[in-house]
Amino acid sequence: MSGFILAIDQGTTSTRAIVFNGGGRILGVGQQEFRQHFPRSGWVEHDGEEIWDSVVATIRFALSNAKVAASDIAGIGITNQRETTLIWDRSSGLPIHHAIVWQDRRTADFCDTLKAEGAEPMVTAKTGLLLDPYFSGTKIAWLLDNVEGARAKAERGELAFGTVDSFLLWRLTGGKVHATDATNAARTLLYDIGAGAWDDELLALFRVPRALLPEVRDCAADFGVTDPRLFGAAISIGGIAGDQHAATLGQACFRPGMMKATYGTGCFALLNTGSERVPSTNRLLTTIAYRLDGRTTYALEGSIFVAGSAVQWLRDGLHLIDRAEASGPMAAEADPHQDVYLVPAFTGLGAPWWDARARGAMFGLTRGTGPREIVRAALESVCFQTRDLLDAMKRDWQGGDETVLRVDGGMVASDWTMQRLADILEAPVDRPVVLETTALGAAWLAGRQSGTWPDEAGFAESWRCEQRFEPAMDAAERDARIAGWHDAVRRTLTQ
Ligand code: G3P
Repeated sequence: MSGFILAIDQGTTSTRAIVFNGGGRILGVGQQEFRQHFPRSGWVEHDGEEIWDSVVATIRFALSNAKVAASDIAGIGITNQRETTLIWDRSSGLPIHHAIVWQDRRTADFCDTLKAEGAEPMVTAKTGLLLDPYFSGTKIAWLLDNVEGARAKAERGELAFGTVDSFLLWRLTGGKVHATDATNAARTLLYDIGAGAWDDELLALFRVPRALLPEVRDCAADFGVTDPRLFGAAISIGGIAGDQHAATLGQACFRPGMMKATYGTGCFALLNTGSERVPSTNRLLTTIAYRLDGRTTYALEGSIFVAGSAVQWLRDGLHLIDRAEASGPMAAEADPHQDVYLVPAFTGLGAPWWDARARGAMFGLTRGTGPREIVRAALESVCFQTRDLLDAMKRDWQGGDETVLRVDGGMVASDWTMQRLADILEAPVDRPVVLETTALGAAWLAGRQSGTWPDEAGFAESWRCEQRFEPAMDAAERDARIAGWHDAVRRTLTQ
């Protein structure tokens, strides 16, 4: 077999399809952005049909770009924006409503009610998550309660729920397979990550009928084959993982203590804790890093909602830069004596604060503050937030013997930001040669499943560091800046 693998990376703002050869080299890429719908303040939606169209188009493009026929592909790996919630009609395959995106805050009141009823400790004990609108459970309930007739249809088994992976799998297999993987299931608030099963008590709490749910499989598994009418051949689908979990695999963080942070729309740091499911006392999430051959590897996760989107805001909202790459050089020229802080709580604050109602704020402005200082404050906000996550991780778990952060995602191309990150973290930051780690992780799952790619050890050996950034900032300066950041966050919180 050839070992050609097709990875589908269905992200928050764009879809990518990438063809890899057996050595993990990229042969062809298709990429397409799709529309973001903001029907009300704090609401974010995607059109499932647009997502599907973008997947089909990018796959066709990537195959032709790579000059590889569908019949030569040994397997497909799917990775996806997590938590984003779709419900579709099983007979027509049509979504009953736009997808509710992970960033959407419309169920904040429902979460507050459940918290007031004292439900959070039980939810956290079973799922490793918190009661926040971020996750799928309350989004499913919202769809069932707000789309006419949906609840009755769901009770009768006529509807299907899925995160984006599951919806794509359904469509790719021509409606034959309704399944997901353990990492995506772990983000729904309905899945007991210890028992490895959908949980009746949680289903009752969120009022979700069991008939809606997909079957949960390992990340590398037989997920069926594509409908041959789509790409001219039936291709096996051998891997699924949520994007942050796929990036953990793509970064070869297989050993306990290894840690990665992906800087996409948001930033998500995952620390591998091995077979140990570490509960957090610092408002981090306990999640499934991946599940292979029936064995679950757990992680502590810190989720920050705004990272790359802060740079987008500098470009598209404030017009302070004309392209993302300009942000680092501009930050480097900022006045070192100005202490300007941006708390980018555009869609609330995630870990470790979890304040759904907080909104963005800027502090320390003077008459001398200009675009450079604001750009620096935006980039630094991502570094400070990562520091908060790592501190919380260290308090939760002492299992790792060293702190090295493997980074990926669009923002890590900026040397200035990576150096500042190492300075603020007081820890080395490793940027790998292959930056397409999310797609690579999904490809590895499908490659492993097809038997054409190496196992964990072989794959880990192929991981290469392109540049290590060592901390260099003076301790007093660093501590003062971190204290200033915490002061700014305190003034932004609503609770
Ligand atoms: O939990 C949301 C996350 O999976 C989205 O990732 O890369 O699309 O921002 P990204």
